[in-house]
Amino acid sequence: MFFVFDGMDGAGKSTQLDRFAEHLNSIGCEVLVCKDPGTTQLGEELRELLLKERGLEIHMRSELLMFMTARAQLTEEVIRPALSAGKTVVCDRYVFSTVVYQGYGGEIEPNLVWDLNHFATGGLVADMTFIFDLDPKIALERVGNRRDRMESRGAEYFAKLRHGFVTEAGRFPSGVELIDASGTQDEVFESVLAAASPILKNVG
Ligand code: TYD
Repeated sequence: MFFVFDGMDGAGKSTQLDRFAEHLNSIGCEVLVCKDPGTTQLGEELRELLLKERGLEIHMRSELLMFMTARAQLTEEVIRPALSAGKTVVCDRYVFSTVVYQGYGGEIEPNLVWDLNHFATGGLVADMTFIFDLDPKIALERVGNRRDRMESRGAEYFAKLRHGFVTEAGRFPSGVELIDASGTQDEVFESVLAAASPILKNVG
């Protein structure tokens, strides 16, 4: 089984991901947690280039392809082998992030980003993607002043992100769950478990 946690920065997805991974462990799954971009050596190098504020000029199309490169490596080197070995994979971000951040936020045609995602992943899709939804103002407040290259793009960019995540989630009749991230951590986790319960019956 392959689960993805995605959504705007500040929506609390990483905290929920940790709790979910712990839950999976407790019900007997062998869990592999990974991070997109990241986890592989190539992915970590690209992550540094993409996210650190170091004055490097990166065009939006270059940025998109760098995220895709990291993802291609992650699927081949980490995710596919883990799934083949019977592990349950939980990934922090995946295909939706590029559709939304570089597509909706960076004004690249979202359908083109989906096509590139398909190429980069060799068509590997998650069994379930949770998208954490939050008012962009609250998300930006939670992010605070220590912002990376993406987070420093500000309020207008964050508003586009929310629109993108909600619109794209709505295009999927199944396999994608929009989770209201405005409640307490416990409330949000309850929603995650409720959404996951139909497919959790099949894991372990
Ligand atoms: P994340 O790992 O969630 O950051 P943090 O270390 O703060 O938890 O995400 C990294 C940033 O990269 C985030 O701002 C979203 C952005 N991003 C894209 O713009 N496009 C992508 O395809 C991906 C995967 C992430």
